[in-house]
Amino acid sequence: MNEKSRSKINSTDTASNRRQFLAGSAMAGTGIWLGGAQASMPMVHRSGSDVLKVALIGCGGRGTGAAHDAIHADSFTQITVLADLFPDRITSCLESLEKAFPDRVKVPEENRFSGLDAYKKVMESDVDVVLLCTTPHFRPQHMEAAVAAGKHIFCEKPVAVDVPGVHRVLAASREAKEKSLAVVSGLCWRYDSKVREVIQRIQDGAIGDIVAIQENYLTGTLWHRGRQPEWSEMEYQLQNWLYFTWLSGDHIAEQHIHSLDKALWLNNDEVPLKCTGMGGRQVRTEEKWGNVYDHFACCFEWENGVKAFTFTRQMAGCYNDVDDYILGSKGNAQILRGVINSPGETWRYRGRTPSMYVQEHEALYKSIREGNPINDGVYMSHSTLMAIMGREACYTGQEITRDALLADATVLGPSSYEFGDVDPGLIAMPGAPGKKVGT
Ligand SMILES: NC(=O)c1ccc[n+]([C@@H]2O[C@H](COP(=O)([O-])OP(=O)(O)OC[C@H]3O[C@@H](n4cnc5c(N)ncnc54)[C@H](O)[C@@H]3O)[C@@H](O)[C@H]2O)c1
Repeated sequence: MNEKSRSKINSTDTASNRRQFLAGSAMAGTGIWLGGAQASMPMVHRSGSDVLKVALIGCGGRGTGAAHDAIHADSFTQITVLADLFPDRITSCLESLEKAFPDRVKVPEENRFSGLDAYKKVMESDVDVVLLCTTPHFRPQHMEAAVAAGKHIFCEKPVAVDVPGVHRVLAASREAKEKSLAVVSGLCWRYDSKVREVIQRIQDGAIGDIVAIQENYLTGTLWHRGRQPEWSEMEYQLQNWLYFTWLSGDHIAEQHIHSLDKALWLNNDEVPLKCTGMGGRQVRTEEKWGNVYDHFACCFEWENGVKAFTFTRQMAGCYNDVDDYILGSKGNAQILRGVINSPGETWRYRGRTPSMYVQEHEALYKSIREGNPINDGVYMSHSTLMAIMGREACYTGQEITRDALLADATVLGPSSYEFGDVDPGLIAMPGAPGKKVGT
């Protein structure tokens, strides 16, 4: 990048120009920014033109963590807008960020938005990047709005709770690609150094052909936020969203998706051909646990005959294990442990283990600055479809084919959002047609 081009860019640094610039299309074409991002940053920064303004939508546990990661990952990001349903979440998130990064967090009162329409105000702001970290149900709505507003996106998993929601996210991701907007997924293991190397070795043939996969996400229970007398039913469900399928997608989608995504990754990111499964509510049977299950066991199958046997359980006092076991024609691998066994040899990952959460943000901002925005839209959507496929196989007790899945038009949740009464949906009963959640 020569000095003449740089000063030309800086002198036209309005918010919209900056966004255009960061979207990278024009500049990447001229090669002005490509490859020179790191070297040129300090000088550009002094004039302020390389600051990436970041908004967070969903200021809960993960969202607050993602905002911290956004600052850690890039020297010139600033958090400038915060949005959440509830003002107290914004306050606690802001306190945490300001304490850690007093110089990088600039969120005046007028840039704090609460309520169900808070996301719309975010899209009207001059931020470059939005972090979509709310309850999963709202992700399609937020993805569409972010792409329409020309924002780069960090998108937590799962991307939807139903099939029509996934189709919306796929369409928004395609549009993002056309507009040179980044879409980076919160399926964080895709950015983990150890997992990437183990998967690469498997893909390079370290264990021969993959024969079968076992995915375990066997874990304990998560939080419950109780019920306050002043809360409407809607607020109660939004506070305790994990336990309502219309909000979380159930824990096979909300948590086990991390395992399913690795099986998908090893199968060229293709949605399986079919799935059968079984699951239920054995321990979490009280009303406070909404309508989700507490265990699922599935068998997914792809065209080439490879099967993935997947198990997830959220129960206290049981055996816990979270890992991925890959059986090949010439050996086997355990992904999270970072071990590959092939005839006469055991390989162990001994490389660095930087935070995958920071790494996904490093990749996001680097790709924006280099004018080559990452787009994780397909695999984050396909993993969500795989989770919904497994859930529906267990909820219905039927075999679910990919064709039937893709044609499923069921939309979960109310048709409009108000802080009043809301139907939580039925508890799914396998083998009982019509007894499907949300219908
Ligand atoms: N990648 C990971 O390892 C990881 C880890 C934890 C959570 N997550 C994902 O992150 C997301 C958030 O999880 P969390 O643990 O932070 O939950 P949380 O309940 O702590 O935070 C969610 C926040 O979103 C807000 N919110 C909900 N709907 C909203 C809307 N329409 N507009 C604005 N704000 C809204 C809530 O008020 C809440 O503050 C979930 O999708 C979850 O699956 C990912």
